Amino acid sequence: MRAGRLEDRPSPLIVAMTGATGVIFGIRTLELLRDAGVPRHLIMTEWAARTIVAETGRRPQDVRALADIVYGEEDVDGLAAISSFATAGMIVAPCSMKSLAAIAHGVSDNLVQLAAALTLDTGRRLLLLVRESPLSVIHLENMLRVARAGAMVVPPVPAFYARPRDLDEMIDHTVGRMLDHFAIPQPRIHRWGDKRPTFQPAAHELEEH
Ligand SMILES: Cc1cc2nc3c(=O)[nH]c(=O)nc-3n(C[C@H](O)[C@H](O)[C@H](O)COP(=O)(O)O)c2cc1C
Repeated sequence: MRAGRLEDRPSPLIVAMTGATGVIFGIRTLELLRDAGVPRHLIMTEWAARTIVAETGRRPQDVRALADIVYGEEDVDGLAAISSFATAGMIVAPCSMKSLAAIAHGVSDNLVQLAAALTLDTGRRLLLLVRESPLSVIHLENMLRVARAGAMVVPPVPAFYARPRDLDEMIDHTVGRMLDHFAIPQPRIHRWGDKRPTFQPAAHELEEH
């Protein structure tokens, strides 16, 4: 069997998971990338690992197994490895306010923050699925800073026009929209105009408004 040429393979993506609630978004990102055949480099912080256990009942090692290459947050040497790959970019999902603040202010204290800085430095796409509520002025200013530096801020806000049937569909829709930014095909995502019937109000319901 002929091995595929290097240039035929999709570029790897860096997926970082930090300790905000919503670790399922990072897990589904890894699973949908795997399904699409995209190589995955995972950086998982200690707080992400704890949150995986608290929120999903999964073991962090099972989530790590969804990636091709895994780094810990303390694995600062991993930057040399990461920078030796022509990655398509990086997704931080979920992104805590601590990690957002560090990225916004160029604090490169762990591998998530270093890889995000490298992604911005090299003009690659950086998506931050930030999660906090309510958002303070400090959080909002940090989001503005990263957006000005070239990152895309994508809070997990559900799109109800997609008429999700359950939480899984809602999560997949959010993840799918992130992957759209890397032109990764998402056959499972329902889009506007897709076959699912849209809500048709009865005539009397329209008249009441
Ligand atoms: C169950 C749980 C949920 C959390 N949710 C959030 C959150 O939604 N947003 C946030 O900014 N921090 C959240 N935190 C706090 C972060 O985990 C904490 O700030 C941590 O230091 C983040 O570190 P990291 O970004 O290096 O993973 C949560 C912590 C726990 C234990």
